[in-house]
Amino acid sequence: MTDKKAPLWHGRFSEGPDAEAVDFETSIYADVRMAQDDVRGSIAHAGMLGKTGILPSAESDAIVRELKNIARELESGSLSVDTGAEDIHSFIEGVLTDRLGDIGKKVHTGRSRNDQVALDERLCLKRLVPELNSLVLSLINALSDIAAQHTGTLMSGYTHLQRAQPVTLAHHLCAWCQMLVRDHGRLSDALVRLDVMPLGSGALAGSGLPLDREMVRSELGFSKITENSLDAVSDRDYCIEIVSALSVLMMHLSRFCEEIVIWSTEEFKFIDLSEKWSTGSSIMPQKKNPDFAELIRGRSGRVFGNLVALLTMMKGLPLSYDRDMQEDREQLFAAIDTASSCVRVFTAMIETARWNVDRMAASCSGGHANATDLADYLVRKGVPFRTAHGVAAGVVRYCIDHDIRDMIELPLERFKEYSSLIEGDIYDCLSPEACVHARDVPGGPNANRVRSQISALKKFVEVTSGRNKP
Ligand code: ARG
Repeated sequence: MTDKKAPLWHGRFSEGPDAEAVDFETSIYADVRMAQDDVRGSIAHAGMLGKTGILPSAESDAIVRELKNIARELESGSLSVDTGAEDIHSFIEGVLTDRLGDIGKKVHTGRSRNDQVALDERLCLKRLVPELNSLVLSLINALSDIAAQHTGTLMSGYTHLQRAQPVTLAHHLCAWCQMLVRDHGRLSDALVRLDVMPLGSGALAGSGLPLDREMVRSELGFSKITENSLDAVSDRDYCIEIVSALSVLMMHLSRFCEEIVIWSTEEFKFIDLSEKWSTGSSIMPQKKNPDFAELIRGRSGRVFGNLVALLTMMKGLPLSYDRDMQEDREQLFAAIDTASSCVRVFTAMIETARWNVDRMAASCSGGHANATDLADYLVRKGVPFRTAHGVAAGVVRYCIDHDIRDMIELPLERFKEYSSLIEGDIYDCLSPEACVHARDVPGGPNANRVRSQISALKKFVEVTSGRNKP
């Protein structure tokens, strides 16, 4: 701990805090991230104090001017945050007061650290979350680029990790994109709800001074002001919403990583990760391991932990502000940092991977993944689906019993033993290409359908990144 000033609240106390108490209660390490936001909020607040006549304009001008200097110095590094301070608010107010004397002491007029911290967090999230969301967009973009090259790359789709029906790699990758689009949406929705300006709520009960909250709101670019001062200082829903959206995002990445781990096995070998994004073994010289996918899968646990920590911290708190809430920033920033690095690494890993299209194509045969297509063929001839299902099951059974890898190898007479309605055109329906082509419903794997899905994804990325631009 550096030599430190008395805390902002020392007046009522005759003894200074114990050194360990000071270390225990500081939030400065997590607050550092909000230094510029704190200054920005103070500039808007002090400007308003001058314009409303609560402070003489010369004083408000002096405060604003000095705060702008502080912002510049923090930016350039000529001023660094004193980690001995109790929090970022105390630090900035202390610097201001050192420089301006009594005038600096006026910056906290009509304000409490309780509404100040809520403001700082919201300002900070309005910066950080769009940055993270643009990483999500880059990932969607990367995946749809890969998908665009693979609308004809056949592979088995799976349920229960058992071969189910043929799809294409493009269709499969687009499925992951849809999850990421929802993740992006959840973060954007949370941003809309957190875009509310809490300053003017004071410690809990507002202020007796004629503050112009609307002026501060418009200066800081919020869309609304908070409606209830008690709620404003005790609300951390915005942190919880962001971290819960990040938990869902991490759950998706974790599932995708699980698949990449499986697909990297010798048994599957659908994907070959680049050596840049793989590791080796200290004992087994032949190994190339998908550690990055495993680490992302593992790190999802941290973000879920951040969410549980926040929910647990909040669940017993009576109105309004309670110091427990200071614990929020570590969880919040950790979740944002973990998710950001995972999205970045995942994008690099997937962009540099090679896709083993032959292995994928091979997965379409040998598992009777075309059985549903035989049933559908009969349905088109008027057979009730349940009956058609029974016919196809009989053909599959025959193939299994006679070691025939794919029913397409059977002669027509054999098919006819199961249904007289089956004709020579059945062979046009049973290849994996035909199975995929036939699934020409919106959202299906037919190449034209997937191509329109990819263009919609590209459009989403384009429109949304345009909107995100400052
Ligand atoms: N460092 C505190 C926090 O982060 C600021 C608010 C302090 N308020 C108080 N009543 N002690 O929550």
